[in-house]
Amino acid sequence: MLSESSAAVVTATLPAVQAHGTEITGRFYQRLFAAHPELLNIFNRGNQASGAQKAALAGAVVAYAAHLTGGATVPWGPILDRIAHKHASLGITPDQYTIVGRHLLAAVGEVLGEAVTPEVAAAWDEVYWLLACELIAREARLYAGAGLAEGEPVWREWRVTGQTEEAVDVVSFTLEPVDGGDVPGFTPGQYTSVAVDLDHGRGQQIRQYSLSGRPGADHWRITVKRVRGHAGVPDGVVSTFLHEHVSIGATLRLSPPFGEVSAVTGDGPLLLVSAGIGLTPAMAALEHLAVTAPERPVVLVHADRAGAAHAFRAELPRLHAALPNLRTTLWYERVEPGDEVDPVAVSPGRVDPKMIPLSPDSHVHLCGPLPFMNTVRGGLLRRGVPVERIAYEVFGPGMLRDDRG
Ligand SMILES: Cc1cc2nc3c(=O)[nH]c(=O)nc-3n(C[C@H](O)[C@H](O)[C@H](O)COP(=O)(O)OP(=O)(O)OC[C@H]3O[C@@H](n4cnc5c(N)ncnc54)[C@H](O)[C@@H]3O)c2cc1C
Ligand code: HEM
Repeated sequence: MLSESSAAVVTATLPAVQAHGTEITGRFYQRLFAAHPELLNIFNRGNQASGAQKAALAGAVVAYAAHLTGGATVPWGPILDRIAHKHASLGITPDQYTIVGRHLLAAVGEVLGEAVTPEVAAAWDEVYWLLACELIAREARLYAGAGLAEGEPVWREWRVTGQTEEAVDVVSFTLEPVDGGDVPGFTPGQYTSVAVDLDHGRGQQIRQYSLSGRPGADHWRITVKRVRGHAGVPDGVVSTFLHEHVSIGATLRLSPPFGEVSAVTGDGPLLLVSAGIGLTPAMAALEHLAVTAPERPVVLVHADRAGAAHAFRAELPRLHAALPNLRTTLWYERVEPGDEVDPVAVSPGRVDPKMIPLSPDSHVHLCGPLPFMNTVRGGLLRRGVPVERIAYEVFGPGMLRDDRG
């Protein structure tokens, strides 16, 4: 808990910090990378360039300060879990919190100037360390749960043993540990971080990919959509690298499985709603249930631009044969002759949440672009699905806004 004196100072200075949040974290990253250029290999340079990560960090610190001073009612557990799982998948260590804290607080001082008296600095230092300690504790539990000894790196070498073109610009890689050891189990919905050494000495970059194969198999599978540049925005760095430079025989560094979102919660009816490459966690769920609970009632609603863009289309007949209570509805923005896949019909256009087949006690898992998930989640909430039954995964920094829109 924040001390009483610090709470009063934080409450008084929160509006100023909030107003300058993005500027503060922008300055923070400049300082951080100038002093510790090696951290450029851990942070996502795409998110840096687009500003997404700046907003995520600023948002988290300010929201936590508001939470500590009673100014917000956001449930913090899920937010901390999301950050801790992401951090664990990147191998973030407690000593890095000291570095980040030092530069973050110095950036507050630089941006707010004389307003940052020693009392103000001490109060914000307290906020930072309360948050940091919560995260460090959660991350320590995650590392231990993944079987890592204290300080043991998260990275392990995996060899690409298979490569499948799943759709236009979508490729799956199957991977096996180079050391021949165990393939860790995972919950459908979990992801691995993939670290690649870019060519031309551009250093390392790390991205997360959902495990799209069956938990318990003797290999892992990830499925990567190539992110193409448009209108002055460059091609995605890691997805392009994986598509262009990685093939059977190559090795990649992967983290253990992390991720707080399960795609198979409960044992009653399950509704999986996905769009585009957001299908990957649902695939792990379907492969898993086909073996562990084939009778479970499952509805899969998947949206895509067109049949040619829809990864795993060819798997649907096999999954329907293995899961007799699976019902699939597909929505393609462009339906072309031959797009029907027995026993599944395809509707034209975008998913209409009112048309989603729903059981009263369904657990829901959503994954796709944010606007898609906002629309579907809003529609399901309006149809009476309790908010706690809707889990979702965002393939980037951040979470959904918590409205019923
Ligand atoms: C939990 C989780 C699971 C995921 N699972 C999958 C999965 O199963 N399959 C999958 O394909 N992906 C998945 N992703 C997404 C994946 O991690 C990557 O984000 C994705 O592959 C893009 O990475 P990239 O390096 O190719 O693109 P980046 O280089 O990171 O670029 C991404 C975007 O950043 C923006 N950007 C980059 N540079 C600039 C710039 N200079 N100016 C403005 N904007 C810029 C652009 O919009 C660009 O499209 C997942 C993400 C998360 C968090
Ligand atoms: C109290 C301190 C910290 C807070 C509040 C914080 C907050 C966050 C948040 C909100 C995200 C985005 C999570 C998501 O939605 O995906 C994130 C991601 C990340 N954090 Fe932290 N973080 C902290 C400390 C650190 C430290 C010490 C490091 C290590 C240097 C670090 C490195 C990263 C990286 C590399 C990412 C992923 C960024 C990306 O790839 O875009 N963070 N953090």
